[in-house]
Amino acid sequence: MVGAIHQAVWAIESIPLLLNSEALDVVEMTNWPTLNSMPRSPSINSLRFIAWIAVLPLAAAAQPPMKAIVVHSSGGPEVLKYEDAPRPQPKDDEVLIRVMAAAVNPVDVFIREGRITRFPLIPGMDVAGVVEQTGSKVTKFKRGDAVYAYLSFEKQGGYAEFAVTKQDHAALKPTSIDFEHAAAVPLAATTAWQALIDKAGLSAGQTVLIHGGSGGVGSFAVQIAKARGAKVIATASTANQDLLKQLGVDQPIDYTTTKFEDVVKDVDIVLNAVRGDTLARSYGVVKKGGIIVSITGPPDPAQLEKYGISGTGLSAYPDAKILEEMAKLIDAGKITPIVSAVMPLVEVAKAHQQIASHHTRGKVVLKVAELPK
Ligand SMILES: NC(=O)c1ccc[n+]([C@@H]2O[C@H](COP(=O)([O-])OP(=O)(O)OC[C@H]3O[C@@H](n4cnc5c(N)ncnc54)[C@H](OP(=O)(O)O)[C@@H]3O)[C@@H](O)[C@H]2O)c1
Repeated sequence: MVGAIHQAVWAIESIPLLLNSEALDVVEMTNWPTLNSMPRSPSINSLRFIAWIAVLPLAAAAQPPMKAIVVHSSGGPEVLKYEDAPRPQPKDDEVLIRVMAAAVNPVDVFIREGRITRFPLIPGMDVAGVVEQTGSKVTKFKRGDAVYAYLSFEKQGGYAEFAVTKQDHAALKPTSIDFEHAAAVPLAATTAWQALIDKAGLSAGQTVLIHGGSGGVGSFAVQIAKARGAKVIATASTANQDLLKQLGVDQPIDYTTTKFEDVVKDVDIVLNAVRGDTLARSYGVVKKGGIIVSITGPPDPAQLEKYGISGTGLSAYPDAKILEEMAKLIDAGKITPIVSAVMPLVEVAKAHQQIASHHTRGKVVLKVAELPK
């Protein structure tokens, strides 16, 4: 019954989500389950009232609750609460995943701090687990399949025992790695792929400079570029020089002792995965006709023109085809996800603190459950 009530409250509190983004701007959402503190918009209030009348009888048939990390208001790591939440239900084109592991990304920290103000919110965009249930139009997966998925920015939901995803955002998990390593892949590897392959058109024999080669995105970018036959130059601090070498970097650069612009010139591609001044210092190291892809903010058009190069920002998005390609590369031994820490779901605050340092080696992953026997 507790699960039924949760489910009803969550459904009602999520009503503004079904409306357009203008409505989201107007409506300041409340923390459930305090219905007395409803927002001011009369239309939304009426909608919620009707929903309460409609949903309460259905609540009796609702799913049991699940454990999840729930955010009820923006703030520091302390707003990440481990509690009961309703198990999500897959739509026709969605699958319900029993989550084994979920990765933490820098964007999760921004979301927790206020990038998304839709509450209650279960954050998390990277999951690996087992298909529990499929929607009626799902053709790619069946119950029991081991999968991994990149949950959309809008939906979130990864830090939980169950998560739903569109089938087009999921793929069969690589068979050669465990769930913790699989969860580390989707968002970071997809970002690296979309930057290097889709945006920059990387090809064999080219030279690429990767800023932040030891991080979540960078560690995949290095390996994708090597697998494509590129020469790779990458930056990281002293402590991560060993990792850059292990990943196959041809020219590792310790940014604490060496300015990359003193030792690099005429690269075909720069992938900037670092904040700060690295982008501003990168224009001069790219050969004419080359390209900068920056995932931390777009390049300056005036600088691009001055140096005769092109450039672009990137907003990564889920794409199952990339996950399928990644699974092949991982199972072929060409790419290995780097996971520097696995923490239980309840220690999510500690995981966020680590990610917020901007000095994480590879990925931090939350262990959600053991594989059922
Ligand atoms: N646009 C998009 O769609 C998109 C997608 C994913 C991520 N991002 C953004 O891209 C950035 C990287 O993401 P991520 O997941 O890879 O982050 P991350 O895992 O936290 O990466 C941190 C890495 O950056 C390195 N680093 C820090 N300062 C550096 C510097 N000055 N020079 C070179 N390396 C440096 C660190 O190495 P050391 O510890 O050795 O310093 C660490 O290994 C984040 O800001 C994230 O928000 C954007």
